Amino acid sequence: MNTLSQDTVEILYLAAAVCFILALKGLSSPRSARRGNLIGAAGALLALGTTFLSTDLDSIVPILLAIALGSAIAVPAARRVQMTQMPQLVALFNGVGGGAAALVAILELSENSSQSAGDLAATSFTVLVGAVSFAGSAVTFAKLQELMTTRPVVLPGAAPALVVGMAVCLGLSVVVTLTGNLWMGGVLLAGGLLLGVMFVLPVGGADVPIVISLLNAFTGLTVAASGFVLRNTLLLVAGTLVGASGTILTRLMAAAMGRSVLGVLFGALRGGSTAGSTAVSNRPVKSVGPDDVAILLNYARKVVVVPGYGLAVAQAQHTLRELAEVLQGRGIEVLYGIHPVAGRMPGHMNVLLAEANVPYTALKEMDEVNPEFKTTDVVLVVGANDVVNPAAKTSPGAPIYGMPILEVSQAQQVIFLKRSMRPGFAGIENELLFEPTTSLLFGDAKDSLTKVLGAVKAL
Ligand code: TAP
Repeated sequence: MNTLSQDTVEILYLAAAVCFILALKGLSSPRSARRGNLIGAAGALLALGTTFLSTDLDSIVPILLAIALGSAIAVPAARRVQMTQMPQLVALFNGVGGGAAALVAILELSENSSQSAGDLAATSFTVLVGAVSFAGSAVTFAKLQELMTTRPVVLPGAAPALVVGMAVCLGLSVVVTLTGNLWMGGVLLAGGLLLGVMFVLPVGGADVPIVISLLNAFTGLTVAASGFVLRNTLLLVAGTLVGASGTILTRLMAAAMGRSVLGVLFGALRGGSTAGSTAVSNRPVKSVGPDDVAILLNYARKVVVVPGYGLAVAQAQHTLRELAEVLQGRGIEVLYGIHPVAGRMPGHMNVLLAEANVPYTALKEMDEVNPEFKTTDVVLVVGANDVVNPAAKTSPGAPIYGMPILEVSQAQQVIFLKRSMRPGFAGIENELLFEPTTSLLFGDAKDSLTKVLGAVKAL
């Protein structure tokens, strides 16, 4: 099917590229994220339609079958996924993109024997980095889905093996660039897969989502390189956008956790721990009931809610919003303190609270809310732990050391809603739980909030 002129194709691709840029702009704020997502999807549909109408496709049946099969797997998976499992879904989809780019590059090697040196360099880059992204993403998926340990896996000799692996893969890339040999391309693909596994195995704990974002950037770069080889402007633009935004997100996430990207990738190989233990503390804490919490809240003037991963697990956002509304109805000021890495993905808490119609104006970012704690009567920490853990400031050996935190200890009273004395994602004890001004309401956050709400209403 080749029914469009080259000029029309370029204009349609330009329109799709503009859609992608507008989508990224929209995704930068919770208010416009949904619209941004739809614009991006429309751009992808436009790009797909244009490609179909402008290319001589001799294998249309297998292509349609592949699209049908891919959609049959991806659509239900995306619809059914829990919000807390989103990072691993992103990892999976991203890895498949990298793998597809690597396979396209191998096909180019097999079909096009007269590639220029520049094209061959881009092809070997795509094979290597696409394979790293595919295998690395598969390992991150297995870690986050708990199909394997989430802790760093450092095999004996891992560091020198990684250096040798990188050198060998680089050498193979040069050979493929110089010769265009298909078999060497296959060996490079295998090397890239192995390198991807070696690269991600030593990353563990809280660092895995950062690596997912980095691999996302890798996939973007391979897609851009494919666009260069295939002379497809849209692939070039879309790949560059993914590469650039993935790189920015990786840096932002690392900074919000007080880590360097190199520390995230190679920290465990250098002997530094990137995850704590999962030991449960048995030191005494002050445990309270829902009625006590209701009284504290009812007589407060200012309450700050600090949501975390546990809020998402318990799906307690609607009950939380209801409780906040009842308190506000009684003249109590209620704010939400949002840490940039609360939960398991960027913007996790914003999305969760937006779903429960919490007004954006009540959500305060870390820098904005930290000065508020001094004048706060009660902080309600709902399923958060690491993001309020003072070890980030006081324990140089802690995996979260250096991460800016929400300074909740400055408030008059701190109430933690959690199920047990288990630590947060980083696996380290939180001294704040043992402070005299801290109380714990044990139980699932949704159950606890429902009981507190009932008790507040009864006062
Ligand atoms: P965490 O430190 O993981 O703490 C979550 C807390 O929720 C735990 O104390 C857990 O205690 C509690 N919890 C779990 N399920 C619960 C339920 N159903 N009801 C009540 N409580 C429940 O979470 P956080 O404070 O949000 O910190 C996020 C962590 O993820 C940080 O270490 C961050 O670095 C890491 N991380 C985040 C991101 C992004 S971008 N958000 C990316 C990478 C890493 P119990 O088990 O005792 O209930």
